[in-house]
Amino acid sequence: MAVKTNFFLNFLTIIFSIFLLNVSRRNLVHAVEEDDVLCLKSIKESVEDPHNFLSSWDFSNPTKGLGFICSFVGVECWNQRENRIISLDLRSLGLKGNFPNEISYCKSLQSLDLSHNHFYGSIPANISSMLPYAVTLSLSSNNFSGQIPASLGNCSYLNVLELDHNRFSGQIPSAIGFLQRISTFNVTHNLLVGPVPHFVNGIRVNASSYANNPGLCGYPLKPCKSH
Ligand SMILES: *[C@@H]1O[C@H](CO)[C@@H](O)[C@H](O)[C@H]1NC(C)=O
Ligand SMILES: *[C@@H]1O[C@H](CO)[C@@H](O)[C@H](O)[C@H]1NC(C)=O
Ligand SMILES: *[C@@H]1O[C@H](CO)[C@@H](O)[C@H](O)[C@H]1NC(C)=O
Ligand SMILES: *[C@@H]1O[C@H](CO)[C@@H](O)[C@H](O)[C@H]1NC(C)=O
Ligand SMILES: *[C@@H]1O[C@H](CO)[C@@H](O)[C@H](O)[C@H]1NC(C)=O
Repeated sequence: MAVKTNFFLNFLTIIFSIFLLNVSRRNLVHAVEEDDVLCLKSIKESVEDPHNFLSSWDFSNPTKGLGFICSFVGVECWNQRENRIISLDLRSLGLKGNFPNEISYCKSLQSLDLSHNHFYGSIPANISSMLPYAVTLSLSSNNFSGQIPASLGNCSYLNVLELDHNRFSGQIPSAIGFLQRISTFNVTHNLLVGPVPHFVNGIRVNASSYANNPGLCGYPLKPCKSH
């Protein structure tokens, strides 16, 4: 009889645990979705949008349901039924402001394109913690300035890094050369000096990707002067 009771209690415990696990899993999925909604909400609040391109980002939409942000301009989700963003393409929208730090709420983002806008100021030093899964990062043709953060070398999935036509200054961090998956790298038209990275994965970056900087050197450009 005691054995039977124990068995029954164990059975109840297991059922209850499964129930708890399910509840916490659902809360987790929900929390991730809330983060992506918060991500877009706070980006919309933080950037200037003189042409009102982001007015379609309507969070008050009464019909909103699962995946309602997936149809917003520039937003692509992992799947249409979940508010989980894989790609944010905000190129050429005339946006102004600092780098939107709120992007770190988009926890599953793989691709960020802010090119051809009027963003300015520096890129946060901890960008690799903000975009740990970044595969593509395009900041081309803005007014970003300051140093290129060395922590980009910790975005280990990066394939494409486009920083051309900005006002980045100082040296290119050598850590960028250690990105195993990097295939496109472009820093034309900046204010960069010093040695270009040595890419350990063997990609050949064209001299054209380094053009129009005041003092870059090293292969494939002229050798750096040893002093
Ligand atoms: C960058 O800033 C300069 C000077 O403030 C301004 O003239 C120029 O239009 C800006 N360029 C972009 C792409 O925002
Ligand atoms: C990045 O650094 C800023 C302070 O400079 C901090 O507020 C923010 O939480 C950090 N973000 C991440 C994702 O670590
Ligand atoms: C990159 O990550 C390593 C390991 O987490 C850390 O020690 C290092 O400080 C990071 N580098 C930068 C430049 O953030
Ligand atoms: C270098 O330029 C050539 C021709 O312009 C192009 O085919 C090639 O893809 C470029 N290489 C890289 C690494 O972008
Ligand atoms: C780098 O950008 C410049 C200007 O946008 C472009 O002409 C060049 O082809 C680009 N290079 C690569 C390798 O993408």
